[in-house]
Amino acid sequence: MSFPKNVTVFDHPLINHKIAKLRDKNTTMKEFRELVEEITTLMGFESLKDIPTEKVIIETPLEKTEQTVVVSESVVVVPVLRAGLGMVNGIHNLLPTAKVGHIGLYRDEETLQPCEYYCKLPVGVENKTVIVLDPMLATGGSAVSAIDMLKKRGCKNIKQMSIIAAPIGVETLANAHPDIEIYLATVDRELNENGYILPGLGDAGDRLFGTK
Ligand code: PRP
Ligand code: URA
Repeated sequence: MSFPKNVTVFDHPLINHKIAKLRDKNTTMKEFRELVEEITTLMGFESLKDIPTEKVIIETPLEKTEQTVVVSESVVVVPVLRAGLGMVNGIHNLLPTAKVGHIGLYRDEETLQPCEYYCKLPVGVENKTVIVLDPMLATGGSAVSAIDMLKKRGCKNIKQMSIIAAPIGVETLANAHPDIEIYLATVDRELNENGYILPGLGDAGDRLFGTK
């Protein structure tokens, strides 16, 4: 499978090892939650490689030196409710000062179209690097909507991080928003007739929060 230049698929042995456990139907809710967080941290290391930095002067025990640091409060993470919530700590492990916005979307079970029910973003979000978090990119409808909502509110520098994607979802998102960076841990085979990713991991929200 080949994707546009703005799509990064990690396909990394350490991440794949954790995805194997994430897919397993016998993985407990606690393990599932921990795995989502760990995978997000591993992905975050690369996904955040171009966040804003600045130079500061540091005094070591021996001399003064110039050192690059991350610009304070330059990143906002936006989990798409519900399953995106499971990824927030994974980024906070790397960047504890990242502020958090929330977008509420659910897929209509019949039409698979995203329905918007919530949006609360930090003040000044339009000038930040915004990272949309959602473990599943299936039809791509939810991600396209979430990013539409962010752009409508003035956001310009947007990234999407998802753990498992379907090829059609990647294509739909990359076509709708060619200006964003898309980071995926892995891309699966296809969607089934109910819009679930195959082989996938089932319903990420239900597995994170024990709702089924
Ligand atoms: C899941 C998932 C994504 C969406 C992906 O959420 O977390 O947000 O489906 O599907 P799409 O790419 O086809 O839009 P869901 O709609 O099940 O909401 P929930 O987490 O609140 O259960
Ligand atoms: N949402 C999920 O949680 N899982 C899928 O496979 C597709 C959408």
